[in-house]
Amino acid sequence: MKTIFSGVQPTGTVTLGNYIGAFRQFTELQNDYQCLFCIVDQHAITVQQDPVELAKTIRSLAAIYIASGIDPEKAVLFIQSEVPAHAQAGWMMQCIAYIGELERMTQFKDKSDGKEGVSSALLTYPPLMAADILLYNTNIVPVGDDQKQHLELTRDLAERFNKRFGGILTIPEVRIPKNGARIRSLQDPLKKMSKSDPNKKGTISLLDTPKEIEKKIKSAVTDSEGIVKYDVENKPGVSNLLTIESALSDVSIEDLVVKYDGLGYGAFKAGVAEAVINHLSPIQERYYELLDSPVLDEILDEGAAKANAIAAVTLGKMEVAMGLGRRR
Ligand code: TYM
Repeated sequence: MKTIFSGVQPTGTVTLGNYIGAFRQFTELQNDYQCLFCIVDQHAITVQQDPVELAKTIRSLAAIYIASGIDPEKAVLFIQSEVPAHAQAGWMMQCIAYIGELERMTQFKDKSDGKEGVSSALLTYPPLMAADILLYNTNIVPVGDDQKQHLELTRDLAERFNKRFGGILTIPEVRIPKNGARIRSLQDPLKKMSKSDPNKKGTISLLDTPKEIEKKIKSAVTDSEGIVKYDVENKPGVSNLLTIESALSDVSIEDLVVKYDGLGYGAFKAGVAEAVINHLSPIQERYYELLDSPVLDEILDEGAAKANAIAAVTLGKMEVAMGLGRRR
């Protein structure tokens, strides 16, 4: 059976973009693949985090994974820092990565541009991400569009490692969803919807109340044409809302265009808000039940044990291949 690996950073509350780009794919894939899903807390600390807040966010993210449908009987859910092989293999990947290729990563450029005190780990973030993936002999990595470049680098690093040290690493493929690979900000539909957007009106969080969701969608930027049509170039705001409703309701964009024909943006936005609220309500209900439950700890303990067992084997092979430690 093929293996799937993906990770989400515990920073801020999960957005509707994360959900549509990543979580929704995860829950479908767990039925047909061996799946490992990771809370990548070591990636989160590449920028400064409040330790108390970070610990809370890690737990919250674990609850969101389960509430959105990850079944611990089928998939392994774990916290990155509870599997030390990630940092160890991450170091090895850093040793084969070139500074130039890391400096070319657009996410590094975006996050470091014009900032003081940028951590060196922000630059070496992609080799750690490569290690996450490669430790599990991953075949497929489901992510949103913004991670494509990191995945290409992961493949390059794995191929470089194999060439130098023998073909022990599996080369992973990226899997980007057809519908919803890049959900955009409701306030600036040319930008992706992001947790770190200072304009909170542009981002729907998975834990927003129905009232907040209604308000944000009502004030979403569209255009003055008044026609509900899918045209990303000329109508990015309307197209984004169509993508969101289609992804959450499983009604095709074409059918939605027919549904809203002649109704105007007021009715359109009300319909989109209703679809979002209907989809998120049961997830939120499960989330609040789970958050303080010891069941969550059992799932994470078991996940860490399973992940450790697999990762240790690959790490051992990588160390031998590179000549680290003692030969016995
Ligand atoms: P992160 O935490 O920023 O995002 C988690 C997932 O959500 C997707 N995503 C989106 N999809 C559609 N529209 C959006 N607006 C949107 N915003 C985010 C991301 O593409 C991602 O799939 N570097 C990764 C975390 C990571 C990882 C890994 C992923 C670390 N190691 C190994 C896969 C495999 C990140 O920062 O994702």
